[in-house]
Amino acid sequence: MLSKKYPKEVKQILSKYPPEHKRSAVMPLLYLAQREEGYLTKAAMQDVAKVAETTETEVAALVGFYTLYHDKKEGKYRMQVCTDLPCALRGADEFMESLCSNLGIKVGETTADGFVTVEAVTCLAACDKAPMFQTQGPDGIKYHENMTVDRTMELLSVLKKSGREAG
Ligand code: FES
Repeated sequence: MLSKKYPKEVKQILSKYPPEHKRSAVMPLLYLAQREEGYLTKAAMQDVAKVAETTETEVAALVGFYTLYHDKKEGKYRMQVCTDLPCALRGADEFMESLCSNLGIKVGETTADGFVTVEAVTCLAACDKAPMFQTQGPDGIKYHENMTVDRTMELLSVLKKSGREAG
């Protein structure tokens, strides 16, 4: 249960909203609930609904709408590459194709070792810095701009190495 597992964080999140508007805390509560596993189980969504005094349907709708929430387990890291038009004009499609080929996967798939899932997303507000992507993983969300496939493969190996050292 969310408030038993993270009592301090839940209290801190709720303190930012009027007690009669706990529902406004859904987004940060979801982010907290997703932190550990990288995705939200049905039970986690039920917990969030309970804490925020809203319905499970509303919570599930938010999870479905926002690209930063996930309802199934995938790679330890998610690499979300912007392939929207301005980025495509700066080579995002070629970058994506070459990256996926290097990783041996297709867009939307996870590498065989379960380390990374590559997804195509729309504008991440760095249109003049494509190819660009954000990584979402145990260390939070990070932007990577003006990337090449070589630098991306290097980044992945650094992340893997730091994960081994930490774990
Ligand atoms: S179109 Fe890619 S970041 Fe805006």
